[in-house]
Amino acid sequence: MTSPANLKPLTARKSGPLTGHPTAPGDKSVSHRALILGALAVGETSVTGLLEAEDVLRTAEAMVKLGAQIVREREGHWLIHGVGVGGFSEPADVLDFGNSGTGVRLTMGAVATTPVVTIFTGDASLRRRPMRRVLEPLALFGVNATAREGGLLPVTLKGARSPAPVEHRLAVASAQVKSALLLAALNVPGTSTIIERAATRDHTERMLKAFGAKIEVETLPDGASAISLTGEAELHPMPIAVPSDPSSAAFPLVAALIVPGSDVVIKGVMLNPRRIGLIETLKEMGADIQIRNIRDEGGESVGDLRVRHSALRGVEVPPERAPTMIDEYPVLGVAAAFAEGKTTMRGLEELRVKESDRLAAVAAGLQANGVKVEELADGMIVEGRAGGVAGGGEVLTHMDHRIAMSFLVMGLATRAAIRVDDGSMIATSFPNFETLMQSLGAQITRANR
Ligand code: S3P
Repeated sequence: MTSPANLKPLTARKSGPLTGHPTAPGDKSVSHRALILGALAVGETSVTGLLEAEDVLRTAEAMVKLGAQIVREREGHWLIHGVGVGGFSEPADVLDFGNSGTGVRLTMGAVATTPVVTIFTGDASLRRRPMRRVLEPLALFGVNATAREGGLLPVTLKGARSPAPVEHRLAVASAQVKSALLLAALNVPGTSTIIERAATRDHTERMLKAFGAKIEVETLPDGASAISLTGEAELHPMPIAVPSDPSSAAFPLVAALIVPGSDVVIKGVMLNPRRIGLIETLKEMGADIQIRNIRDEGGESVGDLRVRHSALRGVEVPPERAPTMIDEYPVLGVAAAFAEGKTTMRGLEELRVKESDRLAAVAAGLQANGVKVEELADGMIVEGRAGGVAGGGEVLTHMDHRIAMSFLVMGLATRAAIRVDDGSMIATSFPNFETLMQSLGAQITRANR
């Protein structure tokens, strides 16, 4: 647990129109994958725009402990000397992934089919999150795992000595689990097939392809996708330009929508179709978002988002859209609070096992600030207050960066200020959140204890 002395309470106050042309930081998902695939490639991978946030730095540290050489040339520009598929050496110490579910789960996959023993742990939030979802399917490759009761970290993995290919249908819609299995399959002779019903983010597949792996995607008669990867591949480095993270861009985006008079252009945001459900939903709510200057950068489409303050209306968010905006529901809950009418969000059981139970945390935060919310087992219904939202509450962030940022955004448009108990976790994904928001005119300041 973050000790009380390390807590960083922050306050957000009603702010004037937000204006500016910010660039959101590099994409967290792509940054983790760049480091891991770089570590598994033969030769040097050059990465620019890498997100230098705590989660990603933990993955870099883990790759070094597994034998890769990683050098930071200058801000955002990193060079990775890989060990080749199957080349990881046994780490002499525990791998501590801090707050990062993506880092720990992907690395579990990456080591699962190499005969080394690896011990994984994380912070108090990560040690509460389920690991069985990845350990059980990895066991199909012959990996031996020991976890705490309930499948919790710390976990010890003994990599399989002679792994055989698998065919597995994912039980949860999770890009982390899918990616872990694909990374494990890299060091297995023959072709492994991972089947997913819901289309989750595909950065691992795209990057594997760019590095020369034999990977094919087929649509099955029931609409699911079968991703087949042929193992014992040699990965050839490709320069990676990491685009801006749409999940981070979501915060200035929603802030501009709810603060009257705002007009903000967020530059170079990744527009991967599996990541932009929030933009689609906000547009349905009446948001004035124009996507301009669409271009291709490093195999992903990116664009600039011009966002202006808008009168929003409540909508029903289609549950099947959840995988394309899974990390954006907390900030969508904030947008919904300022909309006319109800916004219904369902199909969100997964939100209960993120960095915090995000359904409970969002519902509590909205209620503390004068918004009516019905919390459901798999979602929530937010009753918007288009006439204005009271604010004035204190929000408990439960070691969750996205809860902290969402409610700081909310406080920019409520009548009374909003205080969050701890903003320190924001550094896990968006280290310059405060300065970027302040540059737009947002009043976010350190609060008294
Ligand atoms: C991620 C996948 C998602 C997401 C997380 C990043 C990834 O998790 O919530 O922030 O990079 O693969 P799940 O795969 O558990 O849904």
